Amino acid sequence: MIVTAPAKINLTLSIIGKRPDGYHALESVMQQLSLSDTITIEEADDIDFTCADAGLLGENNLVVRAARLLQSQCPTKRGARLHLEKHIPIQAGLGGGSSDAATVLAALNEFWEVRLPFDTLMQLAAQLGSDVPFFLNAPTGIARGRGEDITPIMHRTVGYVVLAKPAIGLSTPQVYAKLHAPTLSTSKVSHRNHPVTQAMISALQANNLEAVARSLHNDLEGPALAIMPALFPLRERMLEAGCQAVLLSGSGSALFGICPDEATAQHAALDLTNDFPWTWAGPWLIPR
Ligand code: C5P
Repeated sequence: MIVTAPAKINLTLSIIGKRPDGYHALESVMQQLSLSDTITIEEADDIDFTCADAGLLGENNLVVRAARLLQSQCPTKRGARLHLEKHIPIQAGLGGGSSDAATVLAALNEFWEVRLPFDTLMQLAAQLGSDVPFFLNAPTGIARGRGEDITPIMHRTVGYVVLAKPAIGLSTPQVYAKLHAPTLSTSKVSHRNHPVTQAMISALQANNLEAVARSLHNDLEGPALAIMPALFPLRERMLEAGCQAVLLSGSGSALFGICPDEATAQHAALDLTNDFPWTWAGPWLIPR
């Protein structure tokens, strides 16, 4: 069995406040991309994980943790050989590890014929990380709570994205630690859209990519720029290369740009290879 695990960008990310459990309550419009990792699953007696990048091997990888978590829910213990072909850079804010974990949960649920219902998979996904549940859902969605409460969004806007990542990554806890968010007395989720979220949903549903570009917002960008000021000139370079708007994805360190068409995106990515060690251009995924 071969499955793909898509990357994501955060078109908006609004921090509501700091919860009693230490996590931040947020609201984010998340969008999956055609950039993806590939995971190959084969029969085996035990859980066996391979990857060409030796730095990603070991029990701590979310692929292994997802497999072991699902295995703990199986009445009869089965194994699997899991091979990860990595295309999504790590410490980039592109959700690669989270997507790998969600994809393994969903794929092994089929491969081992566990047949856990969707809600149970969502709960297991949330145990693995705040961003994991989103990847069990449609390509576009609103994430609330600490990220695990997902509302899918339907839209038909075709978007072309340029990604560019500096050599150094950013650690999510470090970026969150730089935020000065108000303290909340409850972790309860409000389902009334934040104005930033509403503007983005309206832009997507109006099929207006220019309005999408105008409505980009990320509360983690300020803290990330404070930790890594080198991102300022890089953002300028992406605008010069033809992006309509540029934003940090999640907690970074990758920046994404929105382009009016595929040719501009491809040209910009090529142009940016002098300034960034890693670039990518392509369309995002459209909900069906
Ligand atoms: O859930 P996950 O393990 O991916 O989160 C990593 C870290 O990011 C947390 O330990 C926390 O420091 C920060 N975080 C947060 N609020 C969120 C999500 C993550 O403070 N909603």
